[in-house]
Amino acid sequence: MVPMHPLDTKGHPIILIGLMGCGKSTVGKALSMRTGMPLLDTDAVIEEQVGKSIPDIFAERGEAHFRMLETALLRYIEGRHPAPPPIISTGGGIIIRKENRELLHRLGFVVWLNVGVGTLLARTAHGSNRPLLQNTDRAAVLAELLHRRYPFYAETAHLQMDSSRMDANTAAYNICLVAERFFKPRRPRGEKPSEGSFRT
Ligand code: S3P
Repeated sequence: MVPMHPLDTKGHPIILIGLMGCGKSTVGKALSMRTGMPLLDTDAVIEEQVGKSIPDIFAERGEAHFRMLETALLRYIEGRHPAPPPIISTGGGIIIRKENRELLHRLGFVVWLNVGVGTLLARTAHGSNRPLLQNTDRAAVLAELLHRRYPFYAETAHLQMDSSRMDANTAAYNICLVAERFFKPRRPRGEKPSEGSFRT
């Protein structure tokens, strides 16, 4: 199938970050369809590598071990420069480690899907694959995580987008428009910037 919106990302991935339920997977799929770039979901890759589900990894080896696996995967991707470059949908806590924040920021174009707790709550109502939200007050946990992680997402992202009122295709379209500008060759010194040029 010919992609609707092929992007020249100069070999770099487009990376989605944000809290559980912000829409990384659905927007990631829409972006992948639109651009023709393959989708890589860090949680799914880790589950496949380890041969266990995320809840089992948390229960048997603990969260710290899972965080190490996330770092190892990012290092691997950075060292390997996968071709074609992927759309990377990440686990919500991948930005907790400083090394991961730095890795992600230099790896590609990082988009933070920053949506409010109400949207997160609605979108995490079903499913049992999120150990941090099991048997707990989800609203309180999500609000606390958003508060604690907010500076980490902000520091890592090149673009912050509230996608709570957009469908996944509209979000993907908007991301493509900004990504095009982000990956455009830098203008020579002294040349005037085009109107509305994108800054990181
Ligand atoms: C986590 C988010 C999850 C998964 C794990 C931990 C977190 O991914 O990585 O359960 O710490 O926020 P999603 O954001 O894709 O649900």
